[in-house]
Amino acid sequence: MTDKTVADNRLLHGGDYNPDQWLDYPEILKDDLRLMKLAKANTFTLGVFAWSALEPTEGEFHFDWLDERIEAIYQMGGRVILATPSGARPAWMSKKYPEVLRTTENRMKMLHGGRHNHCFSSPIYREKVAIINRKLAERYGNHPALLMWHISNEYSGDCHCGLCQDNFRNWLKKKYGTLDKLNHAWWGPFWSHTITDWSEVESPSSIGESMVHGLNLDWKRFVTDQTIDFYKHEIVPLREISPSIPITTNFMADTHDLIPFQSLNYSEFAKHVDIVSWDCYPAWHNDWEETKDLAAKVGFINDLYRSLKQQPFLIMESTPSGVNWHDVNKTKRPGMHLLSSMQFIAHGSDSVLYFQWRKSRGSSEKFHGAVVDHDNSETNRVFQEVSAVGGALEKIAEVKGTHKQARVAIVYDWENNWALNDAQGFSDSTKQYPQTLQKHYQSFWKKDISVDIVTLNQELASYDLVIAPMLYMMSLDTISKLENYVANGGTLVSSYISGLVNETDLAHLSGWPATLKRIFGIDVKETDTLYPKDRNTLTYNGKQYEIKDYCTIFERKEANILATYMEDFYQGNPAVVENCYGKGKAYFIGARTEQAFLDDFYEELQKEGNLDSEREILHKEGVSVQRRDSAECYYLFVMNFTEQKQTVTLKESFFDLLKQEIKQEQIELLPYEVTVLKREK
Ligand code: GLA
Ligand code: ZN
Repeated sequence: MTDKTVADNRLLHGGDYNPDQWLDYPEILKDDLRLMKLAKANTFTLGVFAWSALEPTEGEFHFDWLDERIEAIYQMGGRVILATPSGARPAWMSKKYPEVLRTTENRMKMLHGGRHNHCFSSPIYREKVAIINRKLAERYGNHPALLMWHISNEYSGDCHCGLCQDNFRNWLKKKYGTLDKLNHAWWGPFWSHTITDWSEVESPSSIGESMVHGLNLDWKRFVTDQTIDFYKHEIVPLREISPSIPITTNFMADTHDLIPFQSLNYSEFAKHVDIVSWDCYPAWHNDWEETKDLAAKVGFINDLYRSLKQQPFLIMESTPSGVNWHDVNKTKRPGMHLLSSMQFIAHGSDSVLYFQWRKSRGSSEKFHGAVVDHDNSETNRVFQEVSAVGGALEKIAEVKGTHKQARVAIVYDWENNWALNDAQGFSDSTKQYPQTLQKHYQSFWKKDISVDIVTLNQELASYDLVIAPMLYMMSLDTISKLENYVANGGTLVSSYISGLVNETDLAHLSGWPATLKRIFGIDVKETDTLYPKDRNTLTYNGKQYEIKDYCTIFERKEANILATYMEDFYQGNPAVVENCYGKGKAYFIGARTEQAFLDDFYEELQKEGNLDSEREILHKEGVSVQRRDSAECYYLFVMNFTEQKQTVTLKESFFDLLKQEIKQEQIELLPYEVTVLKREK
């Protein structure tokens, strides 16, 4: 827990506000304030891309417009999140100092354009950022409107210029000390890749077809460290001048499947921010999955970002309608905006903020959803739905700061994801590590059982059940962490493609690591990768389940067999086992199964661990119930993610915060309807 929290007792509602695009339109700026009140918006993120308005020519600073806007928002009763502008820079800077431009992985210097494309090493860029950030801190660091700092925007990408190459080499020297150690970790002699001088190290590139997996992995680790280093450089003046103001930077997800952002290890980054915030853009109403299945993915990713600091987080950006960058930019159906906004709060967010307050008039985001459309009207549907969210957030304001408690954890590890994606073997089209975790998560989401998604940095001891599928990369430290967890009474679930390599992606020798053999009571021999159309079957508790993609062939030692393969040359061999180890238990799921198996398998574990007891609301398919707790009360968010009316049975009576009335026995939810129920403990 950090001691810096957002000093405002409202749930934040508002979002990215770019008055710098409208300085020649005084009537629009005036109208913004009127509309902000009508939208029941209270927080605005200013300055994200305002560098050219703040410093139109080198060394000449214009703050008047920002002074005026911050003051006007404050007078209206609103608060401000102030961004540092490094996400995009003025054209004069790129022209005068080309070193600030990024170099692509095929070693091409980029031209000015786009955004999020500066070199993280450039001393000149760092100097320019330090100057503008200090000026912002001096001018606004103690302004009563200032709620928090928003550093840059959606940090991402890498730079392959000479400065970055040198930094990478220094990072490696610090990590390995000697070339012998580096060459051992990278398995240097393979294809004659032994490095004989540090200057021979080059960042991975498609031109170089880098197949040195240790190098690829270290580059990704370096990029995370270098991005954090840039962020730490940005916050120096802010910490110095405004030490009590919390600092965040907005994280992302990789959209189509809403899997964790792949390019940066956020479990490392999270250590350096006061509050985790992130930008969430699910493709609601798409044509490849049911609403409830997408809702489960939204639950998963929010639980991951909440669990990074085990405290409430912020949704920094979301859209009131559609976006402009999905394959198809569909608008949210009536009701979905309130439902999806409440889902953020249900999973631990203390805000619903948008990109963007007002649709820009030109350039690439002029058709991106916004609270205020080009019609500047408060009567259109989207504005009305936003204002309804504002009203709902006011009614449930007391949930701010409350926590989620989970007894189940699913492990997600960024480095494992990188190494497994890079591994040449198995099948690239079916590895799907984060998607597999989403499936395990589903078995709990459907039952309304809270789950934390934790990384390997975190403590496991407080969880009754830890699920760590496809943990391909396991260092000896990780193995002993898992061993301690089970030995001390925990229940652990592992799966196919686990425990195969160490932290530099070198295969473990002497077969499956001895400690894993002991924990699971088995010895893994082979992983059979199936063609996408291949199927096998396993029997479990007298029922048959389809399996595909991966089958582990293993020998049973002490474990009890729970399921066996029905076909192929390993017919009759164990497929799923359980093993008692120390005071705990370990399960190994050898094959990729259909969802029904995971649901039934986890139902047994849920019963055994009493994870599903004391339900106040009976499960209803497609209706998700999520809980937040304060010391005295708890809150249940009951969310209908179906296109049908649903009747839900209550075992206790509750106070409905949205409708301000008592609810008991049964509630009816219209399609996409949400209700927030409160009960004292
Ligand atoms: C990101 C950016 C915003 C905006 C939105 C559009 O989240 O941070 O500036 O471009 O995407 O969805
Ligand atoms: Zn660079």
